[in-house]
Amino acid sequence: MDQTRAPFFERMQEFAASDAVMFSTPGHKRGAGLDDAGRALFGDALSVDVPHGGGVDTPHFSWGLLRQAERLAAEAHGGADARFLVNGSTTGNLAMLLATCNPGDEVIITRMLHKSLLAGLVFSGARPVYLKPAIDRAHNLPLDTSPGAVAEALRAHPRAKAVVLVSPSYVGVTSDLASIADICHAAGVPLLVDEAWGPHFHFHPDLPQSAMASGADASVSSTHKMLGALTQGSTLVLREGLLDIERLHTVVDMVQTTSPSVLIFGSLDASRRQMALHGRQLLFQALEMARQVRDEVGDIEGLSTVGPRLLAGRPGADFDITRVLVDVHELGLTGYEAEEILRDEHGVMVEMSDLMSVLFLITIGDTASILRLLAGLEALPAHRKPGHGASLPRSTGELLFAGEIELTPREAFSADTERIAPEAAAGRISAESITPYPPGIPIITPGERIRAEVIDYLRAGVEAGMYLSGLSDESFASLRVVR
Ligand SMILES: Cc1ncc(COP(=O)(O)O)c(C=O)c1O
Repeated sequence: MDQTRAPFFERMQEFAASDAVMFSTPGHKRGAGLDDAGRALFGDALSVDVPHGGGVDTPHFSWGLLRQAERLAAEAHGGADARFLVNGSTTGNLAMLLATCNPGDEVIITRMLHKSLLAGLVFSGARPVYLKPAIDRAHNLPLDTSPGAVAEALRAHPRAKAVVLVSPSYVGVTSDLASIADICHAAGVPLLVDEAWGPHFHFHPDLPQSAMASGADASVSSTHKMLGALTQGSTLVLREGLLDIERLHTVVDMVQTTSPSVLIFGSLDASRRQMALHGRQLLFQALEMARQVRDEVGDIEGLSTVGPRLLAGRPGADFDITRVLVDVHELGLTGYEAEEILRDEHGVMVEMSDLMSVLFLITIGDTASILRLLAGLEALPAHRKPGHGASLPRSTGELLFAGEIELTPREAFSADTERIAPEAAAGRISAESITPYPPGIPIITPGERIRAEVIDYLRAGVEAGMYLSGLSDESFASLRVVR
């Protein structure tokens, strides 16, 4: 296919230059219906914020240009077919589960699952068989899921409909997907990969091997997170064989809006062309910058980074060095405090902070920006707070997987529930998930029996400033349990 073309994006360029008047949605009519401030901020993009059908693409719902663009994306990512997604990889995760699992079906799925996969479990009614990732106890970080763990789960659950992994992890660790794909395929089970943080992997050999290159049956990646697509733009890539591709298309259409933003679609098309033509060079530069940041952080007193060394003795696992997790706790600072200093004093915005660390992403969009980042990091030791900082029990490793799974996430979600004090929750079945950062793995999932040790851990963590995600009561004053 001709990867120098971007059919959807090129049509948008033509449309932008036209004087067509719209008698359709959106109501702002190429910007005329918006006030001056709105027009000034959103600019030229308004003239192409038009309907997909009857605006940019061919009318009558044939989606000719979109499908051409998606097929180019499939080829660029090593798949047989692809779908452009709005609403991010969240849409792809929902679609992958809904396309493979009916209510009650078993699915082997990482416990390091993003909330969109948990939502997919609720929507599909699937019964999860959770896989435990390896944990680095020194840093309290989840690592990869081993091929052995997948093989064992498939042996114990031969009727499972799919294996679903998240790779890379939030800090950039990838699993040995090539070996895992072989194991899944030998069992006739598709491997579905949430590769939200790896849309760039396919385009440079110094990055971990992409899920599709490793043999996965489907991968979903957030093109918007690490490449040039507009926010929400993600790509679902499919391989033929073990998947019901028609059902996948149907569920994508069921979970995706009927009014997708052509700006997002166009940016996905443009980003694919850019990566197909120049990805290797652009990522070479990003990787060089990431190495520079990592080297210089290593020389700053009180700061350290984690990297591929985490994976010693874990063959097949790999690390994306463009994710730079900087541990600040030796300075007596929490990650939240470091984030505030970087933002308020240096205008440097971070991807995430937690009790110990701050995470920075280096992408193809970085230039001299890394000098600002380095200047901010070099200034951190001056804010040292001796004796202050995080003193959290560092590893949740032993606590994960301790609770019995009593109900599926859907059963727990649909059950009659009540809100009670956490201290009264031991022995009860949780109706919600709780994900402490670090390490970002749900410590309680909906349907799981809650243990007293977990409540004690969370209470200590919250008192030390730990961030809990997924909870309906973020103050941790109460928990929702099955009545
Ligand atoms: C592992 C993982 N999967 C899926 C998602 C959802 O991606 P999106 O924000 O593109 O919907 C995220 C978002 O952070 C994520 O971290």
